[in-house]
Amino acid sequence: MIYNMDCIEGAKQLIKDDSVDLIVTDPPYNLGFGGTKLTKTKKPRFNIIANDRLSQKDYQRFTFQWLYQAYRILKPGRHIYVCIDWRMYPLMALWMQRVGFVIKNCIVWDKMQMGMGWQYRFRHEFVIFAVKGKQGARRIATRKATDVWSVPRISGNKTIHPTEKPPELIEPMILNSSQHGEVVVDFFLGSGSVAEAALKTGRDVIGFEVEPKYFKLTEERISNL
Ligand SMILES: C[S@@+](CC[C@H](N)C(=O)[O-])C[C@H]1O[C@@H](n2cnc3c(N)ncnc32)[C@H](O)[C@@H]1O
Repeated sequence: MIYNMDCIEGAKQLIKDDSVDLIVTDPPYNLGFGGTKLTKTKKPRFNIIANDRLSQKDYQRFTFQWLYQAYRILKPGRHIYVCIDWRMYPLMALWMQRVGFVIKNCIVWDKMQMGMGWQYRFRHEFVIFAVKGKQGARRIATRKATDVWSVPRISGNKTIHPTEKPPELIEPMILNSSQHGEVVVDFFLGSGSVAEAALKTGRDVIGFEVEPKYFKLTEERISNL
């Protein structure tokens, strides 16, 4: 069940309170991703993704709205994973706590290859790991996993979306925090990495993507599974 629509409206209209088992999502970081990916022709390869160049006030409003929906639909004690980078981590962590999530850890994704940046080139991103509510928090399914994950990023010329995440990064989140047949929600499908990882691991998925061209990519990707 994936929808080409705004996730805030979609969640309000389609998902009941306390009804989903896990949320894994990769929101716009408000860093204007997409527009800077220059090819040899010096033209941007992608346009800036939706809601990724907002004023601070609008970004805060937008983030609170989807986080509020995320909190409402998640079952108490269940987990949420939110991708973010170091520049937006402090705000996202603060806002997640304001809506009621209890942050349990911050996973460091080591992309194993350097990216952009002038003052030490970027090689990592964060994934905030949190639970809904203070009581009855579920534990993850393993005691062996640490909070540093080395997963190669998809190299630039192979990406089909400007902020594409490898499904190998997403799969452990799903396996550690949900069971076969449970429902995983992604508010920001992009090219469909979370949807792919959820379906491959035998979970049901509900997802939203506002841009028709990225929605189509997700559709194609999951229909090929
Ligand atoms: C950071 S990207 C997700 C990338 C994805 N994880 C992947 O691996 O391809 C965020 C996506 O959210 C979409 N988006 C932005 N605002 C949205 C909204 N209000 N509702 C649904 N999708 C939205 C953007 O078009 C973009 O594709």
